Amino acid sequence: MTQTPNGASVAPLIEILEVIWDRHRQDRSGEVATYIPELAKANPEWFGICIATVDGAVYGVGDSDQAFTIQSISKPFAYGMALEHRGPKAMRARVSVEPSGEAFNSISLEQGTGRPLNPMINAGAIAVSSMVRTSLGDSAFDKMLAWFGTFAGRTLSIDDAVYRSESATGHRNRAIAHLLRNFGVVADPVEAGLDLYFRQCSILVNCRDLAILGATLANRGTNPSTGKRALAPDHVDDVLSVMTTCGMYNYAGQWLHEVGLPAKSGVAGGILAVLPGRMGIGVFSPRLDAQGNSVRGIGVCKELSDRFRLHLFDAPRSGRAAVRSQSTLARRQSTRVRPESDAARLRDIGAASHILELQGDLGFATMEVIQRRTCACASRADAVVFDISRVDSADETAAEFFGTLVSHLVGSGKRVVFAGLPPKNPLCRHIVSRCTPTAIYPSLDAALEACEESLLSGLPISAATHDSSCGPIPLSRLDVAQGLDAAALAKLQGYLRQEHFPAGQCLFKKGDGAQHIYFLTGGTVSVRLYTGPSTFQRLATFLAGSVFGEMAVVDRGRRSSDIWAETDVTCLTLSLDDYDRLGAEHPGIKFRLLEYLIRILSSRLRKANEQIAALSG
Ligand code: DON
Repeated sequence: MTQTPNGASVAPLIEILEVIWDRHRQDRSGEVATYIPELAKANPEWFGICIATVDGAVYGVGDSDQAFTIQSISKPFAYGMALEHRGPKAMRARVSVEPSGEAFNSISLEQGTGRPLNPMINAGAIAVSSMVRTSLGDSAFDKMLAWFGTFAGRTLSIDDAVYRSESATGHRNRAIAHLLRNFGVVADPVEAGLDLYFRQCSILVNCRDLAILGATLANRGTNPSTGKRALAPDHVDDVLSVMTTCGMYNYAGQWLHEVGLPAKSGVAGGILAVLPGRMGIGVFSPRLDAQGNSVRGIGVCKELSDRFRLHLFDAPRSGRAAVRSQSTLARRQSTRVRPESDAARLRDIGAASHILELQGDLGFATMEVIQRRTCACASRADAVVFDISRVDSADETAAEFFGTLVSHLVGSGKRVVFAGLPPKNPLCRHIVSRCTPTAIYPSLDAALEACEESLLSGLPISAATHDSSCGPIPLSRLDVAQGLDAAALAKLQGYLRQEHFPAGQCLFKKGDGAQHIYFLTGGTVSVRLYTGPSTFQRLATFLAGSVFGEMAVVDRGRRSSDIWAETDVTCLTLSLDDYDRLGAEHPGIKFRLLEYLIRILSSRLRKANEQIAALSG
């Protein structure tokens, strides 16, 4: 990042756009449009480039705030408005969607019916505006201006001089309108529809607006900044389709080859291009080529598409990234810290519980990958855990696909567990309706814990499943007792102190000097990492039978996090002084204890390593 004179940092993308802008500024070929007299007044040097992303970022360079009239770039948006008011069927009856391969003002009408070939050429656009005018009457233009404003996310106005100039000189468009009237494509009075068309072409925008209009289409019809729905997603598809095939008139084929984006140009010098799902691009420079498209606009769009690989058919392979990580309960466990005997058992029997962490937007392509990865492990699985907490969206196809996948798994006797299911997630409906009695947990940690409990519950009673109503676990039943005979245990017991902590009490805080090792004989404690004065993350939960605070023995350092009693807790504690005394008086017992603590530390380190490995795929 570099700095502006006032010290603010400049985004690298701005720097890249500035270089592109500077290169294309040298191109002075083409002519400013003069057939509408008012347009001839444009400064031929005006030049702006702007990119707006679907998550609301806007990057502009050059004259990106210079106002100009939208002209033909209004056509796809007016078409969207007509689709919304009249419906696709009625629209198709009057205006076709075939590329004409001819100039914007050609009289390209279907033989016999007189239907204009598409809504991007003047004939089609005049038919579209006439239909909007017929539907909305005198309020049509106010509503149209508001319609464009929702796309742009701001209130727009028109350039009255350009409107009057075009209205006074638009004889060819008038002739086209009367021809359409002759075929019954437009209704009387012809002038009202034409007037709406002239006005819509005179709406004032700047380069930023163009990029945001494009980003709204890229964002399935919702303005990325305001969050307001401007156009229904189904109609967005229709609009982008005609922009792709017809938006650049007799240059449309070459444009698709060289730039590969749905786009629309206007004779004032604007070009708007859309990369669906990602961004809108606006370029403005008034000098036009022979086809009526901005020379610099085309050059910039070609370079952006080339450099940033924006061509529609250069689609990223999003499917593979849908599975963030894949693992099993043998390798990846909940944050519950269990007695080593249970943890070892889980490492043995957890391989049949598969965990898939999903992410991003789920659609057909991503679901195909998910079902393939799931089916590949299903034959070895008793249970499959899907963590969908990082799924941003799921379209209807994905939700249905998921429902079928889950029923297939449940039908073949697998337990399917969902983690991180937000109630409004569109997947929810399908899962609940198709997959009862699938278990659902709010987080992956909770789901893993439930799977662990279910696996362990078939085992003989262990410290982890110790019923607290029976009182604290005796020292002889703790893992630390393994390898110590009764006499050694009795000696060790002499160094330990029984302690009680009520639920909610902090046993020690991050930064405290370490004084004790704790053997948890009843209740649960959790490790908390405070992220604010009253907000914390639970890093781990220790169950009765486990040991904590043992790091102090190794490094005699300070505590690295807080430990809180989640329930009433009983512990056997060993102070560091007593630990040293034990070493002096009974080195054999200390040696066993140390062996046990090293085993604990190494198994925790292994678990951390495996979790890191699972996260990196
Ligand atoms: O119909 C016309 O002549 C203009 N108001 C709009 C034409 C236009 O922008 C053509 N596109 N490149």
